This record gives sequence, structure tokens and C-alpha cells, in this order.
Amino acid sequence: MTAGPWRLRYEGYDPTEEPLREALCSLGNGYLGSRGAAPECAAGGAHYPGTYLAGVFNRLAETFHGTTVSNESIVNLPNWLVLRFRTPGQDWYSPDEMPPEEYYLELDLRRGILARGLTWVDAEGRRTGVTQRRIVHMRHPHLLALETTFVAENWSGELVVRSALDGRVGNTLVTRYRDLAHHHHDPVRQEEVDSETVLLQVETTQSLVRVAQAARTRVHRNGDRPQVARTLVGDHGWIGHDLTVPVEEGRPVTVEKVVAVHAGGDRAISESAEASVRAVQRAGRFDDLVDSHASRWSALWERFGTELVGTTDSVRQALNLHTFHTLQTVSPNSMDLDVGVPARGLCGEAYRGHIFWDEIFVLPFLDLRLPALSRSLLMYRYRRLDEARHRAAAAGHRGANYPWQSGSDGREETQQLHLNPRSGRWLPDHSSLQRHVNHAVAFNVVHYTQTTGDMDFLRYRGGPMLIEIARFLVSITSYDRSLDRYRIRGVVGPDEFHDRYPGAAEPGLDDNAYTNVMTVWLLKQIRELLEQLPAHHRADLWEELGLSAGELDQWEAVTRKMFVPFHDGGILSQFDGYERLEELDWDGYRRRYDSIQRLDRILEAEGDDVNRYKAAKQADTLMLFYLLSAEDLVEVFARLGYDWDTSQIPRTIEYYAARTSHGSTLSGIVHSWLLARLHREDSWRIFTHALDSDIADTQGGTTAEGIHLGVMAGSLDLLQRGYAGIAIRHDVIWLEPALPAEVDRLAFPLHFRGHRLSVDIEKQTLTVSAPPSHLPAVRVGHHGTVHTLTAGGSVTIELEGHPEVRADADDGDADPWG
Ligand code: BGC
Repeated sequence: MTAGPWRLRYEGYDPTEEPLREALCSLGNGYLGSRGAAPECAAGGAHYPGTYLAGVFNRLAETFHGTTVSNESIVNLPNWLVLRFRTPGQDWYSPDEMPPEEYYLELDLRRGILARGLTWVDAEGRRTGVTQRRIVHMRHPHLLALETTFVAENWSGELVVRSALDGRVGNTLVTRYRDLAHHHHDPVRQEEVDSETVLLQVETTQSLVRVAQAARTRVHRNGDRPQVARTLVGDHGWIGHDLTVPVEEGRPVTVEKVVAVHAGGDRAISESAEASVRAVQRAGRFDDLVDSHASRWSALWERFGTELVGTTDSVRQALNLHTFHTLQTVSPNSMDLDVGVPARGLCGEAYRGHIFWDEIFVLPFLDLRLPALSRSLLMYRYRRLDEARHRAAAAGHRGANYPWQSGSDGREETQQLHLNPRSGRWLPDHSSLQRHVNHAVAFNVVHYTQTTGDMDFLRYRGGPMLIEIARFLVSITSYDRSLDRYRIRGVVGPDEFHDRYPGAAEPGLDDNAYTNVMTVWLLKQIRELLEQLPAHHRADLWEELGLSAGELDQWEAVTRKMFVPFHDGGILSQFDGYERLEELDWDGYRRRYDSIQRLDRILEAEGDDVNRYKAAKQADTLMLFYLLSAEDLVEVFARLGYDWDTSQIPRTIEYYAARTSHGSTLSGIVHSWLLARLHREDSWRIFTHALDSDIADTQGGTTAEGIHLGVMAGSLDLLQRGYAGIAIRHDVIWLEPALPAEVDRLAFPLHFRGHRLSVDIEKQTLTVSAPPSHLPAVRVGHHGTVHTLTAGGSVTIELEGHPEVRADADDGDADPWG
């Protein structure tokens, strides 16, 4: 399967593998995404040719199991790929009816080209070879192109090729959702534009977005355009041309299909159908399109690539794949759009294309590579600030409460019911009690601002979000007189297995440690950050937001007296009362089930409830050690008056590591990061497992429904901020590398305050260089010493080496977190 670090190659046709391959080989450009499906096959069985536009959603409401449910989903748009073919007197070719003799699918990650080849022999012995290349254009985001070359290997005659646009599609990829309504658009216009171009326009049923596709199909042979007979074909919802292509034995003939896509909301257009026709008529030949597409990819790789020397091809391949999919989901093309970070990319329908807290795993990576992209993704949240305010107010709170799942307008999109496929039962979904999505939004604003120093953003966009989130968090605290502390009750933490106390009638848990500690840290950060604004800006912002001294005193009080639960002599409790839960028989469950990642479903199907046990789906309390430095935590706990020191960190990590099923791919990233300085071998092992999440579909079937963007971008961030140890503090780039033994060299570009720096870390040395420019010098720090790096110069630092420190070491002065 591994064809080197830059190629993902599959040999042989295997229908059972097809859904996974389609997702992994999907192409996208930040504006749209298209699954790597077989162009000759319609949706059904092994095939699902999904096409999605970033930010194009539609809502369907219905009564389901006695409950009114309303779900907003990213829309599966008409299938632009359709390219069918048949030899004389035969049916349309299908690999499922007539398995190909030879078959491959190959994704070129460097150039963003998906190639495919197959050879089949028809019932009359005609052997035909087909090779295909396709792109979703990175430079011209509205263009898609598919090139198909046929070689009749032992025959001559007429090949019929159908090139069409098919709007008869629904959102039917995810089996769990199929019982729910899934018809999202109707055709509004279909016509032949000229002899080689057809147009199809659909309109979404509720959001009323008109999306148009125009397809131009041409035939080329040996540099000529042979005359081919064309018949216009179609019916309600689909349109195309049947081309009768004369083929001669051994002479290749190529069919080029170029498609332009526009949506009503696109900028700088008159109307989507007209814009698509104009774009496709202007588009060049496939080869020209490939050139401009590949050169844009090459520029992206220069900015986003990460070199990892010493590791295996498969590790580097997975990293490149992760970079590739990250950029296919959010890219410079997204910068003008009103889109956030969809947790499952633009290649599937899992979680209905929604935006979650997962951006906390994505934006910090982008902050150091293309901060303008981070800024535009944060704008998605800013534009929905009023909706978040409304949500807070509707529940009687102040400030802004961002939704756990977000779609078009920022209202709460979490489904009311979810299906446990194991038991077949539809269950109420309380995951929207995860208030910590607000912490993720605020964390990203803080990180972006600290990294870029973008005070304009802070004044006009980030500042209002931070203040309103802070307000909300303070307003959901309640003062407990008996404890003389503030508490946050009735929430769910990142661990979605726990949504209530065992047997409790109402959902929600009290004092989730992650939520409470992050609240304190954020309130402090927000105040410090706002202090950095010039006084007049600060005064204006205060005034606009109506912030009073009394309110700030209240924030201060919360940062001094928030309650944080502990048990077993200093272990942070995931929530208050956690210690009273039962221990799970992990070994027993591991023996009985192939995978226990989704223990919640297993236990529910057994008539039990995961809420009863000390068993987490993913890192929850441990998120604190992932996001905050040891110094930050020491400061927070000291401020709160808790007797806590960093010696508790290894214990706490071990405690929860033993009680986590990793039912979310995000979990591996966090655990690997935490162990980077504790158990380097374990860190690397978990990291490589996280790299496998999608490529090997370690969750058994979820990748086919959409890649996991959090783990993908999170793995890149783990290299950048975890293993390279990069942190921006007070305008200094601190680097504290901890290279895994398996890595000889880690190198990547870093974009900081206009500079394009190069970071190069080897076992013994660390070099940061800046190309010549007129930009002011930057400061680079390591182990407490700050160096000045001027444009055109470099800083090389000898590394002292990082002896491995084990969590169980009793060596008191070895503090890996200090
Ligand atoms: C995880 C969440 C995550 C969501 C979307 C869930 O399985 O538990 O933390 O936000 O997937 O990726």
C-alpha cells in the first residue's frame, strides 16, 4: 500500500475497501470537496460520489420516534463526476458486474492529482484499458476536471461514453442517518448550453441556495479533436451527453470533462448558473489546468510541509496525507468564505459537516503557517457571536455561549437523538452540554493573538468574543457557601461517555476539572491580553461591551475561588464525585470485544450504562496538560489556593491513561503529546497509531464517512508545538525540542510576524534562520536564554539532550514539565 511518502496507492479493485478509499482519496480545495469515487458508478453499494461546498448547509425537520427533530447538514450536491462507458452491444461498464483485470487508484499528494487505471474484458472478449486523472483545482477553486484515456487493446469500433451531471442524489452516506430525511435539493434548471456543454442547477430545499454545475466534455486524439456524434441525454434532475467515440486498436483517445461549480452566495458573480457557464467556457485544457493546479500545490507545500528524517516512509506518507487533507478542507481559498473548520473535512457526511471544538487541534498549527487563514476561520465564530449571545440569554445567562455543533448560522445543531447502532435504540443526545467549546474558541483567539500580535483583530473581533465568553463562563458559576468556592454545575466535559451521574434523572455533571481550570486560566489570560491594547482601544472596547469594574472584580473572584475536585491524594477528578464511580473490568471487555473504543455503545447494548464507570472516551482532565504549560498550571492552582505541584502530572496522566478507551481519534494526539517528555517511546507509539487513524481506519468504518480533521492537523501540531516545543510568549519564539528517538531531524517553515523562518532540529542542534528582508529582528528563546535573529541570519543552539524521564522515576529533581 505504501508507494513512498508522496503517494497513496491501492492495487486491485475491492468493493469492501471502496468507501474508505473514496474518503482518503477525496480531493478538495477549501471551497469544495469531492470524494474519490468511481466516475462510472452511481451512489449505492460500494460507491458514494459525494460533492460538498464549504458552508452550504440545508435543514430538514420531521417527527421521528415521537420527537420533532431538525437537522442541518452539509449538502451532498449533484454528482459532477459521472463518466460511464460501454463497448458495442454491451451494458455500461461497472467494476461490480465485471471485475477489472487490472486496477489501481493512486493519489499524488504533492500535486493533488488522483489517478486511476483499469482494464476490463467485455463479454465478447474486447479488452479495453482506461486511465483517469482528476483534480479539484487549487488555484481556480470553482473548477474540477476529469481526464479519461481509453485504449482499445484488441479491437476497433465505437465506444459510447456518457458524460453527465446527476442531481438525483441525497445525503445517504451515513447508514445511521438514513432513516432520517435526506432529500436536500431539487433541480431548477437543466439545459444544453452548447454542443459540448451542459448545465444543471439545483436549489436547496430550505436554505434556498442555488448551486450550478456546468460541464464541458471534449474528445482528443493525437493532438486532434476528432468528430464524435453526441446525443443529449437526461431526465428530471440529470443531464449529459452520450458521445459515440470511434476507437482504433492501440490508439489512445482521451475524453476531457471540465466542470465549473458556483453557489448563489459566491462573491463577485451575478448568478451561479451564468457564472459556471462563463467559467467552464474560459477554462483551458486538462494539462494546462493541471500545471496551474500543481504549481499552487507546490507553493502550499513550501509553506505547510514538514520534513521528518529518519522515520519510515509510511510515517512520512501519513503526515503528508494529513497536511494534504487539512489544506483540502481549509486553504487560502477558504479565506474569503464564511466557513469554519468542519470536524470531518469536506469528504463525507459524518456529523453532518458540523463545526465542533476540534478547531482547537487545527488553528494553533495554522497560526504558525498561515495566520491569515486562522483569522478568517475565527471570523466564522465572530459572525456568530450574536447567535451565541442569544443562546446564553435564552438560558438566563450573560455573555455568549457558542454551540457544541455549529452550522450555517451558529445556532445549536447537536442532534436531539442519536442511534446506537449496536442496540438499534435511538437515545437522547446531551452532548450539547459541553460548554468547553467556548474555551476552545477563546483559546484559539488567545493563541492567534499571542502568535501574531494582531491588535486590530483583538480590538474589533477577538476582544468582543473573549469578553462575551468570559462573561458567560462567570455567569454559569454559582457560589457555594459551604465550600466558599465557585462551581460550574450541570455540564459535560470532553469525555462524552459521561453525561450524567449514575441513575440521575437530569443530565449534566458538576465541576468538570477541565472546564473549571480552563475557565480560571482563560479569565486571567483574557484580562492580560486586553491590557495589551492601547489605552484608547481598551476604553472603547470596555464601553462598547459595557464592561464595568464590578464585573472585572467578579472575574477576579472566580479566578481566586473556583472549585476544583481532587481525589486519591492530589489526582484531579474529572468531575465532582468521579471517585465514587466503579472501576470497569477493562481486561474482561477487551477479551470479549474486538474493539472497546465505543464502550458507551457496548454497555448500552448490554443494558448497562457507561456513566457508572471510571471509563473515558477521550482525554478530558488531561486536556489541561495538553493545552497549558506546567508554569500556567502551577500559577492557576496557587492562585486558587490548592496545594498542587507538577509532581502530580505524571500520576494524573497514568491514572487517566489507564481508564481511557480512545473512542475519539483526538485522544491519541493528546496522550502522545503528554508523553513526549515523559515516556518518549510510548509517545511515539501513540503518535504513529494516531497517524494510522484514518489511513488504516482504526475506528473500523468511521473514516469512510469523513476523515478526522482534528487528528490530522493535530498530528502536525504535535510535531510543531509538541516535539519541537514551539511556544510564542511575550513576542519570543521559544523552542524546547524533545525529538523522539526515531527522528533524526525535524524541519519546517514557520511564519512569524511577516518572516518566513526555517526551523531545523537535529539530535544535537537547533537552528532557526530568517531569509534576508527589511523586517525587524525576532527573538528566539531556548532554556531561558533569548537570542536575537536578524533577517538574513540564523541562530544555532546546542541541545543538551533530553534524557528520558519515566513517570515512575523517583528521581525528585527530574521534572520533565518544569
Ligand atoms: C468527539 C468530540 C469531537 C467530535 C467531532 C466526537 O467523537 O468525542 O470530542 O468534537 O467527535 O470530531
